[in-house]
Amino acid sequence: ADEPLVLGIETSCDETGIGIVRGHTLLANTIASSMDEHARYGGVVPEVASRAHLEAMTPTVEAALAAAGLTFGDIDAIAVTAGPGLAGALLVGVAAAKSYALGLGVPLYGVNHLAAHVAVDQLEHGPLPKPCIAMLVSGGHSSLLLVPDVAKDVISLGSTVDDAAGEAFDKVARVLGLPFPGGPYIDKAARDGSGTAIKFPRGKIDDGTLDFSFSGLKTAVARWVEAREASGQSVHVPDVAASFQEAVVDVLTRKALQACRKYDVHDLLIGGGVAANSRLRALAQERCEAAGVRLRVPRPGLCTDNGAMVAALGSDLVAAGITPSTLRIPADSSLPI
Ligand code: KG4
Ligand code: ZN
Repeated sequence: ADEPLVLGIETSCDETGIGIVRGHTLLANTIASSMDEHARYGGVVPEVASRAHLEAMTPTVEAALAAAGLTFGDIDAIAVTAGPGLAGALLVGVAAAKSYALGLGVPLYGVNHLAAHVAVDQLEHGPLPKPCIAMLVSGGHSSLLLVPDVAKDVISLGSTVDDAAGEAFDKVARVLGLPFPGGPYIDKAARDGSGTAIKFPRGKIDDGTLDFSFSGLKTAVARWVEAREASGQSVHVPDVAASFQEAVVDVLTRKALQACRKYDVHDLLIGGGVAANSRLRALAQERCEAAGVRLRVPRPGLCTDNGAMVAALGSDLVAAGITPSTLRIPADSSLPI
């Protein structure tokens, strides 16, 4: 028999993402983002995001079906991000998913956003090695996970104790006068600078945990820039960007490989928006090769929040025979992994 056709709904932050997969074959990945509306506030405004999801939901589902050449009647199951994320934003996706599941008479699967970031890689690189270590770095999360089986067993090894990695990129970008969200602008500016120009602190680097801390680094960059400006000296943005970026990716790659070593795992997956960072990709590749670890990084369009990741995990849950969620499943802003 054909593998089931799963429609995935993602609304945990500012992206209304609808993905459609059959097994691990990607059929559609349609996204409506409200980022333009948030950019002028310098951060995602929850109320604005919720309203935008509400408006985008129906047209985005219809666009995804059209892109895949399908109709509602073809859908075998609905998967939706149940958490973690912005409460009001999640609620819109979960309510829509319940309505579609009820209306179509198909099973509903509420999924964890972080596990979905891991599952999505299978759409590009095939079945995940069991186990693998996953590092998820975005504006909302920075986590290290041990993944024996993405459908059944995902274990948190560590996470940030303060800012997420992407949040640090965004805040430092603001200090440097770059637009929001700042990650891509720092990445670009850093290409003309030196990662060793300024020595910035590496939080929790050898503290024996698999947790991260980026707020000290962010503050150190802000102080450094303030001090330069106060003394009338110029600030070379590319050097600051490159040195800050180097501090972040140095810590990220070291901790990820510490996790691989500690759990004797030889496959590392990096996901989330910050995985688009060119220096992170390069340094991770270099250090993984030296450590005999295989590296998997999904293409940027699958790293940032999207519906395909939710559909991919839903597809795994169906295949694993996991009991579907009931129509009473809540949106849970702090859903644990
Ligand atoms: O996964 P994502 O789209 O949304 C969530 O936060 O869940 O990640 C967005 C984050 C932002 O903080 C953005 O600045 C960062 O990913 N980002 C980058 C790059 N591209 C996006 N950070 C560093 N370098 C990049 N090239
Ligand atoms: Zn995410």
